[in-house]
Amino acid sequence: MTNTWIKEAISTIEADYQRSADTHLIRVTLSNYPGIYFYLKDESTHPSGSLKHRLARSLFLYGLSNGWIKENTPIIEASSGSTAVSEAYFARLLGLPFIAVMPACTAKRKVEQIAFYGGSCHFVEQSRQIYAVSEQLARDLNGHYMDQFTYAERATDWRGNNNIADSIYRQMSREPFPVPDYLVMSAGTGGTSATLGRYIRYKGLDTQLVVVDPENSVFYDCYQHKDPMITGQYSSRIEGIGRPRAEPSFIPSVIDEMIKVPDVASIATIYWLESILGRKVGPSTGTNVWGMLQLAKRMVDEGRGGSIVTLLCDSGERYLDTYYNPYWVAENIGDIAPYFQQLAEKTNDECTPV
Ligand SMILES: Cc1ncc(COP(=O)(O)O)c(C=O)c1O
Repeated sequence: MTNTWIKEAISTIEADYQRSADTHLIRVTLSNYPGIYFYLKDESTHPSGSLKHRLARSLFLYGLSNGWIKENTPIIEASSGSTAVSEAYFARLLGLPFIAVMPACTAKRKVEQIAFYGGSCHFVEQSRQIYAVSEQLARDLNGHYMDQFTYAERATDWRGNNNIADSIYRQMSREPFPVPDYLVMSAGTGGTSATLGRYIRYKGLDTQLVVVDPENSVFYDCYQHKDPMITGQYSSRIEGIGRPRAEPSFIPSVIDEMIKVPDVASIATIYWLESILGRKVGPSTGTNVWGMLQLAKRMVDEGRGGSIVTLLCDSGERYLDTYYNPYWVAENIGDIAPYFQQLAEKTNDECTPV
């Protein structure tokens, strides 16, 4: 009986996938970066609103195939919000109860979306508490703790099979520089950067993987000092990315370079990007694009042309009362004006999405 339910559940997820479309790769050129083509893989257009839709699908298929998720198994997840929204979507699809364990400061919109999909939220004060509380809840309810931070890197098939890397390179194939000089990504679990980095190696591609990291995150220090045991005390202020510990899914050996990005720079970048894309993006996209611009400057200084790809991880509509509220930003992030000024000068207001 259990096997019949699992078979049907997998088939339900596969049928949902069959009904889905791929996400767009948006191209942008900027007059002060001649010869450089910028691309943003728009992951906000998944049904559950972020790149985490891919991960949630993979984690459910992994849990079902392993026999960890059965009929009526309560699903518990530790999350900064986006993964929980996507997992709530798939839990509803399979008729399973879902509980998200998240920091109390998680964007209101994400909490509403989890409830919309029939999930519930359990809040903790500090980001570092989410793991132990999730484990405990799973034990108490005889449920399954999805543990994205451990399984993100292995639940995704990094060799191909329409993963995000495969999709990016296929979409780049008719561009002036089809093999990007750089892929830029931030890390929450580290799962996406693991997939990108492994795919680059596996296919023998001439692309460097650059991972950008916000303040209050230890990924950068762990990478630079080759020490996975470094921990931090504070929660990241860029929702979705940056962790107080090096997550098991963070694979430093596939990364070519890391860049530390000030939080004010990430947020200045999302305001600036709005003038280019005509839409709002989430804060982790600001971190990604700030890193992208540093690499573009390096290429211009070296007289190189080429392409750089990064991810538009989720939409800014989720963060209207926080990152898009100037008072909240002034109080919680700081003065973004100097960075915004720098971005506006660098790009001379002559930016064209093409
Ligand atoms: C909005 C957002 N951006 C970026 C990331 C980072 O992705 P990954 O977990 O694959 O490192 C996350 C992860 O939760 C996220 O929610």
